[in-house]
Amino acid sequence: MKLFIDTANLDEIKEVSSWGVLAGVTTNPSLIAKEGRDFKTVVKEITDIVDGPISAEVVSEDHEGMLEEARDLAKIHKNIIIKVPMTKEGLKAVSILNKEGIKTNVTLIFSANQALLAARSGASFVSPFVGRLDDIGNEGINIVEDISEIFNIFGIETEIISASIRHPIHVLESAKAGADIATIPYKVFNQMLNHPLTDSGIKQFLSDWESVK
Ligand code: E4P
Repeated sequence: MKLFIDTANLDEIKEVSSWGVLAGVTTNPSLIAKEGRDFKTVVKEITDIVDGPISAEVVSEDHEGMLEEARDLAKIHKNIIIKVPMTKEGLKAVSILNKEGIKTNVTLIFSANQALLAARSGASFVSPFVGRLDDIGNEGINIVEDISEIFNIFGIETEIISASIRHPIHVLESAKAGADIATIPYKVFNQMLNHPLTDSGIKQFLSDWESVK
């Protein structure tokens, strides 16, 4: 499973990228708004840090508007992936963009049927939102398992991005469920990195080392 970071914050992206683990970045309008800077400038700066798929989301609700935004965003860099919401208009846009060779990530997926529709319309990626399903009392990871099973049966090449990740267990579950990618917030990357036994082990090694010097 590849690891993406789910943020528009350049410091967070630079930090995790320096660990050598990052294969891509996902943003959304809420994450961009948090940065309080020009959308296209932020996206361009991200492409300078990470050489992999960078999702940038459209905000229009009709497919004509989505197409206009998508074509403009795609000009920023060859790695830009257009994030499109899972709606009828979104699918229309995905289908046209696919024919134009512009890659898409269909977002706000909450069922395996939605993922199947998105894949068949030509999406390169689908993003099931695990955490938000947990929030409403569902077992969010089940949808990733279902999508993975269906895509495997039919040899569908659309990649599954496990999204709305809230904690390290979600990452583990996503990998076991067959997600191609997990898009992970900065906080969760750090939680994955840390372990109290690693800390105490280092402390012990260093103190033993000091005692014989
Ligand atoms: C996915 O690409 C989204 O940006 C993201 O994972 C949403 O997560 P949230 O539910 O924490 O907002």
